[in-house]
Amino acid sequence: TKIAILISGRGSNMQALIDACAAEDYPAEIVLVVSNNPGAKGLERAALADIPTAVVDHRGYDSREAFEETVHNLVKASGAQYVFLAGFMRILTPWFVGQWRDRLVNIHPSLLPCFTGVHTHERAIEAGVKLHGCTVHYVRPEMDDGPIIGQAAVPVLPGDTPDTLAERVLAAEHRLYPACVKLVCEGKARVVGEVVRLSSTTS
Ligand code: GRF
Repeated sequence: TKIAILISGRGSNMQALIDACAAEDYPAEIVLVVSNNPGAKGLERAALADIPTAVVDHRGYDSREAFEETVHNLVKASGAQYVFLAGFMRILTPWFVGQWRDRLVNIHPSLLPCFTGVHTHERAIEAGVKLHGCTVHYVRPEMDDGPIIGQAAVPVLPGDTPDTLAERVLAAEHRLYPACVKLVCEGKARVVGEVVRLSSTTS
């Protein structure tokens, strides 16, 4: 299955997907990485893996729609059937989300529906929750909302700072995202009535 990845920065989740795709029996092939940020570190990582990259700098566009149309056309032209967001920091309009309905997936660093938005680790510590984690979900127009494909939990430990907690969650993200991408590409994470029905992973 051909997939595209959208990034804005470091690209460590993208790297986890690149590494997973290197295995022969993994069902996805990354055909394009798009960044809205020309300085994204992830662009270098993708290039090192010989993956085609594109920069669509949102600052060069008059409207969100015009920016998204360019991204959409590039992804279409790449032949990708699915789009995975990996630290992509632009909110997508209902138009783009509609074009890719149930073929557009995001990873978010919290156990949704708790802690949508930014600064999730800081807010988890402030709230005193003892479990935190990450969520992979199909994208809906509402930010950090949509049918949940998978989640991974990590403990919040005494003495955690937002940074130490972020590091623990990130390690979980790097395991969770490749597992969820696999499910999606194998058609084993289908949306049924706005929840994801997971199929057996043994066959
Ligand atoms: C990750 O924590 C991801 O969940 C969030 O932004 C961060 C991106 O990190 N959406 P990276 O660019 O994948 O390293």
